[in-house]
Amino acid sequence: MLMFNMVGELEDVLNKVYENPRQSFKEIKHFLLLEDEKELKCLFSFADKVRKEFIGEGVLLRGLVEFSNNCANSCFYCGLNKQGSSIKRYGMSRDEIMRAIGDLSAVNIKTVVLQSGEDNGLDPLWLAGIIKDIKSNFGLAVTLSVGEKPYGEYRLWRDAGADRYLLKIETTDPQVYAAAHSGRLIESRLKCLDDLISLGYQVGSGVLVGLRGQTVDSLARDILFFQDKNFDMIGIGPFIPHPGTFFANDKPGDIRLTLKVIALTRIITRDAHMPATTALGSAGADYRIEGLKSGANVLMPNFTPLRYRALYEIYPGKTCLKEASEKCILCMDEKAKISGRFLDYSAGHSIKKRHLFN
Ligand code: 5AD
Ligand code: FES
Repeated sequence: MLMFNMVGELEDVLNKVYENPRQSFKEIKHFLLLEDEKELKCLFSFADKVRKEFIGEGVLLRGLVEFSNNCANSCFYCGLNKQGSSIKRYGMSRDEIMRAIGDLSAVNIKTVVLQSGEDNGLDPLWLAGIIKDIKSNFGLAVTLSVGEKPYGEYRLWRDAGADRYLLKIETTDPQVYAAAHSGRLIESRLKCLDDLISLGYQVGSGVLVGLRGQTVDSLARDILFFQDKNFDMIGIGPFIPHPGTFFANDKPGDIRLTLKVIALTRIITRDAHMPATTALGSAGADYRIEGLKSGANVLMPNFTPLRYRALYEIYPGKTCLKEASEKCILCMDEKAKISGRFLDYSAGHSIKKRHLFN
């Protein structure tokens, strides 16, 4: 059992959640509904201690390259949806991608996240070639985030050297999922996640907090799902309404609730890598420091070239649209220090046991 100096009933309940999440559904809900400042502080500091015990004080960096905003989907919350707005579409060339990777490698970052919309036109062999080049020229850890794809493509990219894959479930509630994804079914996303796990990727998932129809019950089930699947990485961010989407007039996700979901996920999953997401940095104000203090341990500086950055508008008000990446790193160094931590420039592979001997 973890040792805490603080005493009191709330710590006892948190210890129960920590020791036995499966039997703690009611308690998880209780914490999701907390409003009292003192009690919330207790929840966040418990999560912070679990983070410290399992991960330490380093804040890992992942360099993000948003290489295409083409998307064949029409997710009702996402600004890249195909019906969506009037955004100008772009796809970076292989040379542009390699230059962005050169930039992030030059400042000593050891992980690149290659992200795009779910682009039907994405040539799997082209991407495999890029992965091989990154591996041989820069030796970086490669994380892909390009959506639902057939098993064969996931295998091709894994064979080419990709280490990790991010695919958020967004919500585990089948109805909420279907209603936000224009009839697409959660089963297909679950199958993709299982495929990725079986191929030996370090797999990341996560949810949006504040999706239409989501309840505290469904968020509690989301958190238990993270533990069930033993994901290596979990990203949690607030929903931010985008004017070019079907959900334009929905209420934004609640920041406090987002922080509670982060904290409980940390307590329950213990050693997953968890970003203070860009969405958390873009929700009216920048709440990434609060994220770092509630269980998160990763920041993701954006290395998409400035001329494309504003076009990757998943949601409005995205932070760091005009900042040179180097400036963001300085700013992140500051955020880490304010949180009593330091930037960790290692590759930051998963520390889940199944990966330790890979
Ligand atoms: N608000 C916040 N996050 C969003 N995402 C997509 N649309 C929004 C939005 N409107 C998140 C999803 C997706 C990730 C790339 O961005 O969680 O997985
Ligand atoms: Fe980009 Fe602060 S992280 S300016």
